[in-house]
Amino acid sequence: MLYELIRPALFRLDPETAHHLTLRGLKALCRLGGWNPLRYSPKGRARSVMGLSFPNPVGLAAGLDKNGECLEGLAALGFGFIEVGTVTPRPQPGNPAPRLFRVPEAEAIVNRMGFNNKGVDYLAQEIERSRYRGVLGINIGKNRDTPVESALDDYLESLRKVYALASYVTVNISSPNTPGLRTLQTRENLAQLLAGLVAERESLARQHGRRVPLAVKIAPDLEPREIEEIADALVRFRLDAVIATNTTASRAGVEGLGHAGEAGGLSGRPLFEKSTEIVRRLSRALQGKLPIIACGGIFGVDDARRKLDAGADLVQIYTGLIYRGPALVSELVKGL
Ligand SMILES: Cc1cc2nc3c(=O)[nH]c(=O)nc-3n(C[C@H](O)[C@H](O)[C@H](O)COP(=O)(O)O)c2cc1C
Repeated sequence: MLYELIRPALFRLDPETAHHLTLRGLKALCRLGGWNPLRYSPKGRARSVMGLSFPNPVGLAAGLDKNGECLEGLAALGFGFIEVGTVTPRPQPGNPAPRLFRVPEAEAIVNRMGFNNKGVDYLAQEIERSRYRGVLGINIGKNRDTPVESALDDYLESLRKVYALASYVTVNISSPNTPGLRTLQTRENLAQLLAGLVAERESLARQHGRRVPLAVKIAPDLEPREIEEIADALVRFRLDAVIATNTTASRAGVEGLGHAGEAGGLSGRPLFEKSTEIVRRLSRALQGKLPIIACGGIFGVDDARRKLDAGADLVQIYTGLIYRGPALVSELVKGL
């Protein structure tokens, strides 16, 4: 209700300014102390996935809190889990602005942020400082200027640095805004990447006495054969989960609308069917061997339920939060 009043003002601002203002507002609310996220826990259905206990199946998708600076504020919205990042080993500015665009007629967003983030060391500090004790996913990627052939080194560096802090780690190989990143989804590249990551994880597990689950986040722009190959590799290398999906390169559903022609990944309503179809195909290929976290165009309880019916175990939201506001989280938690 409150968000309906605030949204027109926020939508008059440039999207990136609105984004920063909202995050700052959430942080300030928590600092005021009147809203203690550690006590706030909406009734939801607890789930056990990847060997972790989720108080409810509704998570925040990666990209909103790239630097892990607002965990308490986001937790106060009622999320069952929060994914921060994408973070890269070294800080990087991302693409030049403007790089974030609303397509309100389609309840969509086009972004080409390009992994703007303050680097993995800063993220680790923020998490250590935070009082958040819920399920925390840390999403890692490669720096733009790291050649794709050396991508594994970047992922390994971040994996080591966040290992002790993460409930699970997501390997992002599906952002359309880092040149070449999506080629890591192809069969040989993926096998090489996963072999390296899994070997390092085993060594870290011995060192830390805790096996942190590894998830892989994939694109929606994949052919059925590619989905099967990815599913096969995830099982073979004993990954712990798959997140489906990231944003799409397609413009189906937004043709001719303002900003639809901007370069970048499309998220929100027009992504729903496409990403749900990926979940369905993955689910068929995986046969329950690996849990699926569904993401893409969830704007209400029916959408989330359709993702679960397609084979997902958990859901994540991002663009729905921008259009529907924070009440969407509790609506989903209560409705599922
Ligand atoms: C502005 C913006 C930035 C994003 N940044 C990231 C990111 O850094 N890493 C990532 O894995 N996904 C990122 N995403 C993708 C979302 O996590 C999500 O997969 C996608 O938007 C589909 O879900 P939605 O339709 O609910 O937004 C970003 C999305 C948006 C809109």
